[in-house]
Order: sequence, then C-alpha cells, then structure tokens
Amino acid sequence: MNPKIKALNEKLDQAKLGGGQARIDKQHQKKKLTARERVDYLLDEGSFEEIGALVTHRTKDFGMENQKFYGDGVVTGYGTIDGRLVYLFAQDFTVFGGSLSETHAEKICKIMDMALQVGAPLIGLNDSGGARIQEGVRSLGGYADIFYRNVQASGVIPQISAIMGPCAGGAVYSPAMTDFTMMVEDTSYMFVTGPNVVKTVTNEEVTSEELGGASTHSTKSGVAHITSSNDVECLEDLKTLLSYLPQNNTEKPSDLLFKLNDEKREVLMDIVPDNPNKPYDMHDVIKGIIDEDSFFEIHKNYAENIIVGFARLGGKSVGIVANQPLYLAGVLDVNSSKKAARFVRFCDCFNLPLLVLEDVPGFLPGTDQEWNGIIVHGAKLLYAFSEATVPRVTVITRKAYGGAYDVMNSKHIGADMNFAWPNAEIAVMGAKGAAEIIFKREISSADDKEAKWKEKEAEYAELFANPYSAAERGFVDEVIIPSDTRRKLIKAFSMLQNKTVEQPKRKHGNIPL
Ligand code: COA
Repeated sequence: MNPKIKALNEKLDQAKLGGGQARIDKQHQKKKLTARERVDYLLDEGSFEEIGALVTHRTKDFGMENQKFYGDGVVTGYGTIDGRLVYLFAQDFTVFGGSLSETHAEKICKIMDMALQVGAPLIGLNDSGGARIQEGVRSLGGYADIFYRNVQASGVIPQISAIMGPCAGGAVYSPAMTDFTMMVEDTSYMFVTGPNVVKTVTNEEVTSEELGGASTHSTKSGVAHITSSNDVECLEDLKTLLSYLPQNNTEKPSDLLFKLNDEKREVLMDIVPDNPNKPYDMHDVIKGIIDEDSFFEIHKNYAENIIVGFARLGGKSVGIVANQPLYLAGVLDVNSSKKAARFVRFCDCFNLPLLVLEDVPGFLPGTDQEWNGIIVHGAKLLYAFSEATVPRVTVITRKAYGGAYDVMNSKHIGADMNFAWPNAEIAVMGAKGAAEIIFKREISSADDKEAKWKEKEAEYAELFANPYSAAERGFVDEVIIPSDTRRKLIKAFSMLQNKTVEQPKRKHGNIPL
C-alpha cells in the first residue's frame, strides 16, 4: 500500500478508537453506547460523513501536549435519517470525559453554521464532564460560541438535544435553548451545580439522580421533554420526533399518502360522560381522531393536566394541545400554561398546524398559583396562541369556562375554525357556581333554599350550559356530532393549508416571561 495512504488510514483508525479500548469497555459497562455507535445507530446505514476527525486540542498546560486524541472528544458531521439530511455532533466520553475544549467547541460550531446555512436539523448527543478543566476560560468561551449559535438557529432549523450521560454546569444551557431535550433514564443527568456544591451551599443531601436525573426532569422541573429507557430507545424516539418536523422554517412537514374515505369514528360518541363533573381520558379522544398509532407525546409526565404532542391527521403532521380532565379536572395552572405555550410556539415556528381539544373548567385558584405568577404564565399561553399564524382549529369537547375559554385558541384570538360537540358548555363558569353568585339574594331569602338554588342553576344551565349561545354569535363555527370530528378536521386543515397572515413590522414581540 502507498505509505501515505497507509499513514492516513492509521490516523483514521486511531480516531475511531477515541480514548482507547479500555475506556470504550468502561462506557459499555455503564450500559452506554459510544459516540460512534450512537451515530451509526441514528443515521441511515452508510450515510455518515465525518467532519474534523483529525482535530486535536491545542493545550500545552498540565502536560496536555502529550495527551492528544484525534477528534478531541466529539464526533461531528452530517448524514441522513429516513433519507433526510441532518447535522449532528456526538460527544465522546472516552476522550477526556467528553469535556468541551476550545477545539471541541469549534467543531460543534462548524456544523451548527452549516446546518443553519443549509437549512437542516441539528442534533446534539451530549455525554460530557463539562468544561475541559485544563483549558479554563477558553472552554467557557467555546460554550458561549455554541449558545450564541443555538439562539441564531432558534426558529430557523429544528434543534434536538439528547442527554446520554453527564451534562453539568454551563453545558446545560445549550440543550435548554434547543427545541427538545431528551434524556436517557438512569445514565444521564443534568444540573447547573452538582450534589457536592449543593451540599456545601444549602446543606442538602441529594444524589445526582435525584437532583437531575431523567425522572426528576421529566416530572418535577419539565426540563426534559422526552425520556427513554436506554440509548437505543432514545435514538429511536429521536427519529420518530424528527419524522413530524420539517427541515426548516421555510418548509412544511412532509405528508404521508392518505385518501379520505368514510372517516366516521363511532368510538368518539361515548367517551365524554354526561355528568360534567366526571373525568375521562382525553387521550381516548385524541386516539379517536388521529391516524392510527400516530401520537407522539411531549412532556408526557409533566403538568399532566394538559397534553401536548405531534400526530398525523389524514397523513399530515399536526401539533395537538388538549386539556386533560383526568388530572386536576383539566385546569390551566402555572406549569401546564408554560408547557403548552412552549409547544404552541414551536409549532408556529415550524409550520405545524395546531389542533386544540378543549375541556377546561378555568384556571386553578389558590395562593400557590397566584404567588407563583399564574397571571404571567397563563398570559404566555394566551400570547402564544394569539401570535401563532399556522392553521389553528379548536374542538370544544365539553367545558369552556371563563378566561380559559378565551385562552384555549378561541376565535377571538385568531383561531380559524372552532367546532363544539353538542354537550359543550361555553360559559363564564359552571351553572351551580354561577347561580350561587348572581341569584344570591333570591336563594338566601327563599323558604326552600336548596330548591331555589336548583331552580336557578337549571335556569342558568338552560341559557349557557350549551354550545348554542356561542354558535349564535359565530364564536363557534359549527356544532358537530362527535363521530364526524375526524372528517371535519381533515377537511378544515386541508382548506387552511395555504393560509397566510401578514403581520405588523416589528423587531419581535415581548412575550411575558
Ligand atoms: N475536564 C477534563 N477532563 C475531564 C473532565 C473535565 N471537565 N471531566 C472528566 N474528565 C476526564 C477524567 O479526568 C477522566 O479521565 P481519564 O479517562 O484519563 O481517567 C475521564 O474524563 C472520565 O472521568 P471520570 O471522572 O473517571 O468518570 P466518571 O464517570 O467517574 O465521572 C463526572 C464523570 C462527569 C461526574 C466526573 O468526571 C466529573 O465530576 N467531572 C468534572 C465535572 C465538572 O466539574 N466540570 C467542570 C464544570 S462545567
């Protein structure tokens, strides 16, 4: 063999070994795949083209000049997933714990720049001990270069972060600024400061898992949008997520072939109980409406009183936001408002039509909510819907009460089509509470107070506990039979597909944060 080609091959083989076989074995013992195994699993076979395989760090301090590994702890490049171009980086924990040096950051920035210029999704597979301690501020500068690019790319290309090992300190802020953060259970954690610092500063004893493991971030903090039980499942989930999204903000998500046949779904007739106080699972309504097995839920275990996720409807990608009467009766509160607002804004950035399924008794009362700023957080959702210009359709399955009626994609804030089922109640509040307030004097002066209350409740219910008062004013476009919902929605979204909205010129709005 030509000696020059031999030398090149040797270098590339060395690069493939990262930090060496012993460290690769250690990675496997921790039930983690290596960076290269992850890349191979994620991308279409043979599609990966590496960029910067022979990059090494430039540090001379602490004897680092004698410890160089090709790639410098991160594998970067491009390839395809289901035939679609993506750019990605995968941190290699076998090289200095995947820590971020100046050159490591430069490699990531290079592919971020390409992804943005070409208009293709950016995927980050994170597995890193944080800033390369031997490099000091050069490493911190590298993080900031990445953060800046995350923001430039926000709303232009989808950015997805999978946390597949440690992610601590400044490193957490890049995933936090991407569109989705995925975490692998038991092998990943994210925190700004680790358990040791926490113990010193606050005297709290906490494990890494409790402080920032996948279950903590998917239930308590909401930092993680999706959790998976191992590396392979995480990469599969990532591919599924990507399948609903367009390449960039100028494109629409790709359609699947679909023919509208008889789309009546009788199952929808029996889901909502007659008694307005009885819960039901809104997932059943979603399932009853969408294409078979097409729901991909985001933030599944966080703020469960609202459901958000992607689905296909007649072969087209849609974003769904739905109140969940099974949890807290489906009320809006601080966390559910934030969760839904973020999702609505993502869909609006990337041309995903929004379907809203509404059964909301109002906002959650109480000091906890007020003191935690439900006014500002509820406003986020109101703002997000109001500014969204993608096709927006609402179906009121039961309650639409109070201010929450306005917030949940009402016609007044720009929804395109609003449907209601015949049992819908669109009112300021439930009939019982309403009667108690407006007929207070009559009830208290009646001989039989209970009977009077019931009579007044019935009077209010007759007038408002139905969809017709709203339909008479055009606040509801059509009252529909539940089994017709799927057909009506497919037609409505098809009718709206070329919707365009001219917006006033401004730098950007000022969403209440
Ligand atoms: N900078 C440079 N090297 C680092 C590093 C960093 N931030 N984090 C880890 N490494 C190196 C270790 O020196 C070790 O090198 P070796 O393979 O030559 O022995 C290798 O990465 C693996 O680290 P190790 O500590 O053995 O792995 P672990 O799984 O037991 O622990 C961490 C992982 C991330 C918990 C631990 O390495 C750690 O606490 N790192 C520092 C985190 C930090 O404070 N970062 C800076 C602030 S952002």
